[in-house]
Amino acid sequence: MAFRNVVLALCAVFPFLIPGNVTAVDDKQKAAAVKDEDGKYFDAEGNPTFKFQSDGTVDWYTFSGYRRYHADCHVCHGPDGMGSSYAPALATTVKNMDYPTFISIVAEGRKNVGGGKENVMPAFGDNKNVYCYLDDIYVYLRARSVGAAPRGRPPKKADKPEAAKAYEASCMGE
Ligand code: HEC
Repeated sequence: MAFRNVVLALCAVFPFLIPGNVTAVDDKQKAAAVKDEDGKYFDAEGNPTFKFQSDGTVDWYTFSGYRRYHADCHVCHGPDGMGSSYAPALATTVKNMDYPTFISIVAEGRKNVGGGKENVMPAFGDNKNVYCYLDDIYVYLRARSVGAAPRGRPPKKADKPEAAKAYEASCMGE
């Protein structure tokens, strides 16, 4: 086999060998759902993640996260997690930020004062419309971050699981 063919064969078997492809491949593998708890999916580390069917149907949490993101985050972070001149692209953020850090920033907020301009991430810890759906938003952004979810409203979604109804009722009713 010529050297070039050996390299091509290696890259086909081990795509992470291709420079620049490293994070994308790693993120997709990391985000892969390995556990299903009544329509809520988890990766190998036990963090919430998305799962899409081959016909494009998205899991309930991705759909719900899409709606919650566009109700409460979009105004600053831009449509589809793409970012704006005011706040960072969260579809990029969740590639490098672990789940607990994401949750704590949204709950507690963050203030970055520097270079003469002040950027404020509000705290959502006492906003039930956000904190009762934090996993949904995270799952949606994760799907966006690895390119699994296209821009815009997911056309087909799974039915709302009983567990989601129960969690929502207890969280909103606290
Ligand atoms: C009023 C505008 C505003 C809204 C609404 C808002 N954010 Fe932010 N957010 C910001 C700004 C500005 C920053 C950057 C703050 C900084 O630089 O420390 C930020 C930062 C973040 C970060 C850290 C990003 C990073 O790359 O370090 C996360 C995570 C985040 N926001 C999540 C959310 C979520 C989820 C929502 C919706 C529930 C939301 N934000 C709604 C303005 C907003």
